[in-house]
Amino acid sequence: MILPVVAYGDPVLKKEAEDIEKDSPELQKLIEDMWETMYNAEGVGLAAPQIGKSLRLFLVDASPFEEEEPSLKGFKKVFINPIIVEEEGEEWAFNEGCLSIPGVREDVNRLPKITIEYYDEKWNLIEEQYDGLAARIIQHEYDHIEGILFTDHLAPLKRTLLKKRLNNVSKGNVSVNYRMKFPKK
Ligand code: NI
Repeated sequence: MILPVVAYGDPVLKKEAEDIEKDSPELQKLIEDMWETMYNAEGVGLAAPQIGKSLRLFLVDASPFEEEEPSLKGFKKVFINPIIVEEEGEEWAFNEGCLSIPGVREDVNRLPKITIEYYDEKWNLIEEQYDGLAARIIQHEYDHIEGILFTDHLAPLKRTLLKKRLNNVSKGNVSVNYRMKFPKK
């Protein structure tokens, strides 16, 4: 089932999300719905708060980036109760967008290498390291479950310049070809 994507300005996007309990009966269905919602919106990642659930869950399928980064081939994963335990290296900029903020893209600085612990959808505890674009996508989605948006990383002046456009996103004054829920509409 395709779920509406929550737009910028909704309080659920600013909340720190809660851990998921292991035997949570609706989890598999939620994961299925999130895949469907993400693919429908042509995203490479989706976090549970973006469909209105304040839970520590996100999924990633980076195959659209496969051509520029062959190592991303088949990089499709579900991250449950993740913790980024380390971030290292020198900041690099990449132009990010977000399904909750359609029409807005900005360069965001992040560290290039991460170590993350998480459960997969079969509840295996996994620790992995990622770098480059894979790390970037994970960091963006991880931010969502911490209540942080990519716009929060921008310099204050840049954010001030974006204010009107972000307000328009909240009101639904934006052209988008997937279902959304706008907080100020
Ligand atoms: Ni996002």
